[in-house]
Amino acid sequence: GKVRAPTHIISTISDDRGEEPCYAGVPMSSIVEQGYGVGDVISLLWFKRSLPRYCTHFIEICIMLCADHGPCVSGAHNSIVTARAGKDLVSSLVSGLLTIGPRFGGAIDDAARYFKDAYDRGLTPYEFVEDMKKKGIRVPGIGHRIKRGDNRDKRVELLQRFARTHFPSVKYMEYAVQVETYTLSKANNLVLNVDGAIGSLFLDLLAGSGMFTKPEIDEIVGIGYLNGLFVLARSIGLIGHTFDQKRLKQPLYRHPWEDVLYTK
Ligand code: ACO
Ligand code: LMR
Repeated sequence: GKVRAPTHIISTISDDRGEEPCYAGVPMSSIVEQGYGVGDVISLLWFKRSLPRYCTHFIEICIMLCADHGPCVSGAHNSIVTARAGKDLVSSLVSGLLTIGPRFGGAIDDAARYFKDAYDRGLTPYEFVEDMKKKGIRVPGIGHRIKRGDNRDKRVELLQRFARTHFPSVKYMEYAVQVETYTLSKANNLVLNVDGAIGSLFLDLLAGSGMFTKPEIDEIVGIGYLNGLFVLARSIGLIGHTFDQKRLKQPLYRHPWEDVLYTK
């Protein structure tokens, strides 16, 4: 038989050796000629399959909705300060990206993990939230610095409306909404945030589309693919903020003394 030299790398998502690059076996000419969008490309390169249009449209909506949230949030602030320190585009971008984590934008995977576990185990929202409280863990996907029960996040509403119209089932999202109803009864800032909305709805996408087996869903949730949506989306805004500062020729940023409490 064939003797094969062992390779140092295994790769399964793309191939550039032929006449044209292929994403998960789909040649670039098909991607362009058949009018694929960025949601289709994400489906091919992340999930290694073509997904139905409503799924790729949902992915694109997540990207558009999370692209930016103004200059005051952690990521944009870091990118702005870095750009004003005279650093290049990549440095300014990664400086902003590095703030994405459990408090800011990077709670999507944990929201999916905790909501899935609680729903699949049949916990009531009360049991789930109180159990998290006992463990001293904040519920990922719940809470926001400026959004409130009487000033909800429009992005969450838009995602929910799209899913209620197009998804075959929104059971995880409805569970997240019940969790929110309970957390809002405790404090007005404990709304379902955009990370929680995407986390729960992506569970519905994975489970309801018929495109993923149960072990595949567990693997996706286990590895943690979903924060990638926020990282990818917010890169658009962080790059925008970097260009904005450079266009405006903004000087080195220095935080005002008056805004620091100097204390022993
Ligand atoms: N679960 C349980 N309790 C919470 C949660 C939560 N997710 N969030 C806040 N609280 C409680 C806090 O314990 C605190 O109560 P305490 O003072 O008795 O301890 C009270 O609500 C107020 O908390 P703050 O720290 O003032 O809230 P803050 O506005 O700073 O926090 C944050 C906002 C960081 C988003 C917080 O709600 C949180 O950690 N949420 C979970 C992580 C998450 O989903 N992050 C993504 C946000 S959306 C985005 O970034 C795109
Ligand atoms: C965001 O999308 O950056 C936010 O939800 C965080 C914020 O504080 O507005």
